[in-house]
Amino acid sequence: MTTLIIAVDGPTASGKGTIAKALAAHYGLPHLDTGLLYRAVGWQCHLNGGDPDDPAAALAAASFADTLLGDDRLRSEATGGLASRVSVHPAVRQTLFNRQRAFALQPGGAVLDGRDIGTVIAPEARPKLFVTASVEARALRRWKEMQSRGEDHTLATIEDDLRRRDERDRERAQAPLLPAADAVILDTSSLDRDAAISAAIALVEQAR
Ligand code: DC
Repeated sequence: MTTLIIAVDGPTASGKGTIAKALAAHYGLPHLDTGLLYRAVGWQCHLNGGDPDDPAAALAAASFADTLLGDDRLRSEATGGLASRVSVHPAVRQTLFNRQRAFALQPGGAVLDGRDIGTVIAPEARPKLFVTASVEARALRRWKEMQSRGEDHTLATIEDDLRRRDERDRERAQAPLLPAADAVILDTSSLDRDAAISAAIALVEQAR
C-alpha cells in the first residue's frame, strides 16, 4: 500500500481544519494544523513586544516554546491576523519548514493543513485538496464560532478582516496561498460539516 500524505490547503474559515481532522481520524493518520505554528510565532512576537511586520522581530519569535501551542489565545481572530503578518517573512517560513516537512514524511503518512502544504511543504502529497468557500459563507461561519465563544464582533468587521487576510496570504512573495497545479478544489460554501467531510473522503478515494 502506498503511503498516504494528504495536503489540505485553503483560506481561513474554509473548513479545511475540520476536514483535515476528520480525514486524519478516518484514515488513522496523524494531523498537523500548520496555521497553529504561525499563530504561535505571531503570539510570541506580541508577547515579546515586537512588531510582526519587522522581519527580525518575527524571526526572533519563531523559536517559541512548544507549550504555547496549547494556549487558547492562539485561536482568536486577533492572533490569526498576527500569524498572517509574521508568515510573510521568508526567514520565519524557513524556520518552520523542517518541522512541517518531517511531519509530512513520517512513516505511515500524515494529514497537514495550511496554505502551502501542496505547493511547498509536501509537493509529493497525494491527494491534495484545496478547500475554499465564498467570503460571505466563511464570515458567517467565523461569526457563529465567535458568538459561541462569547467574542462579540459584527459580521461586517469579520468579513473585512477575512478579505484583508486573504489578500495578504495570496499576495505575499513566498509560498502564497495558491492551489497546487494538481490540487482538487472543494468548495464548501453550501455544504454543512458532515457533507463537507463526506465530499472530502470521496475526493481522497478518487485521487489516491
Ligand atoms: O489557518 P490559520 O488561519 O490558522 O492560519 C493563520 C495564518 O498563518 C494565515 O493567515 C497565514 C499563515 N499560514 C501560512 O502562511 N502557511 C501555512 N501553512 C499556515 C498558515
